[in-house]
Amino acid sequence: MSEHSGPEVGAGCPAHPLPRASAIEQPSLHARLREEMPVASITLPTGAPAFLVTRYADARTVLDSPAFSRAPLSATSSAEMINLQPDAPPPLRESADRQGAGHTIPHDLVTRFLSPRSVHAMRPAIERITRQRLDELAASPPPADLMALLARAVPAAVICELLGIPEKDRPWLLERAPAQLYWSPDEHARRAQAELAAYFKDLVEAKLQAGGQDMFAQALGRLGPAHTVPVEKLVVLAIRLAVAGFHSVGVTVGRALPVLLRDRRLYARLAVDPSILEKAVDEMLRYTSPSDTALPRLAVDDAELSGTPIPAGSIVLVALDSANHDPRFWREPEVVDLERPGIAQHLTFGWGSNHCIGAALARTELRVIFSGLAQRFPDLRLAIAEKDIRWREGILSNDPLELPVSGW
Ligand code: HEM
Repeated sequence: MSEHSGPEVGAGCPAHPLPRASAIEQPSLHARLREEMPVASITLPTGAPAFLVTRYADARTVLDSPAFSRAPLSATSSAEMINLQPDAPPPLRESADRQGAGHTIPHDLVTRFLSPRSVHAMRPAIERITRQRLDELAASPPPADLMALLARAVPAAVICELLGIPEKDRPWLLERAPAQLYWSPDEHARRAQAELAAYFKDLVEAKLQAGGQDMFAQALGRLGPAHTVPVEKLVVLAIRLAVAGFHSVGVTVGRALPVLLRDRRLYARLAVDPSILEKAVDEMLRYTSPSDTALPRLAVDDAELSGTPIPAGSIVLVALDSANHDPRFWREPEVVDLERPGIAQHLTFGWGSNHCIGAALARTELRVIFSGLAQRFPDLRLAIAEKDIRWREGILSNDPLELPVSGW
């Protein structure tokens, strides 16, 4: 992720993803785009043209408006979703959004199981899983890799329990899940995607036939025998849940922990003060913006944002990380400030009717992980300099390949 080869505003269409020094840093181009070209013409990795929205107010408009459709959501993998072709057909108006009649993927089946109330009931299980991983970390000679032992392991175990995935399959799945997130999947990643699709097809069919106690089986059970939802859509739903569950929370821990460890007083307070913990989790979600962009939209009709005309059928990407650092909305956005007004109004989980359905679960996992770490490892520190963290490249939402820590 080099800053040196970055494009200039006005020098043709910047290539997406924009370069940046590390996954914790914002692309330096964002500030200029917000000022000079808030709806910028960019080029996607396929060569397809798209618009990149960088201001907070415009981002909220796009995220929550049926005028910007999520029809591409019917694609199986994020890479497919993002690597839209220039001749992608304009979407049908009613096909894409949750509030519309024909949402392409039946997310509503699972939303009630992931509500704040349901997640509250899961908290003891999340704490149990986290305690086991913290024990494992404590038993490992320092320096130990926090990504493998904790940051990826906790959310993976949680989502596998929710989806009823047997323990023996988890390492196999964890290895393949990131294949869904590559900008330009190579042959290896494509094979992994096909294997994941086959695995989840079997899982869905088994649950449709035999039911089960896990959340996903219960959700599918609500369909009833006469349902007409194609199995492929249920498979996509399962893959989305699994990949979000495997990846997003781990990325957040990997990006946020180095920032939290910069301020020892703040880190210590995470152990003892639940209100600080809640604010710190939301401020880290804003500051490190683990989801760099939202799911891509297509403009349903000709539209206009911040004075820029957007022709019908255009691909529109919302730079959530830029919106989360827009000084028009945020007081001193480059400062970690737990007392900032509207601290939970970041766009990291999207906004409005298309808000992430796993947000309550993600927040709870992050709170349990950070408080557990601060209580159990008060002297925790990075075992390498922050600048030496190696970030996974070529993927939506880069996470650290490993995060060596010590201090016990
Ligand atoms: C810190 C962790 C997480 C972040 C940052 C995150 C972020 C997001 C974002 C930005 C979107 C797209 C919103 C849009 O484009 O309008 C999304 C959608 C989604 N998320 Fe999350 N998410 C996280 C955790 C989770 C978890 C744990 C789950 C599963 C239990 C989950 C399940 C989903 C699903 C299924 C969708 C698609 C929803 C839809 O299409 O309506 N997410 N998430």
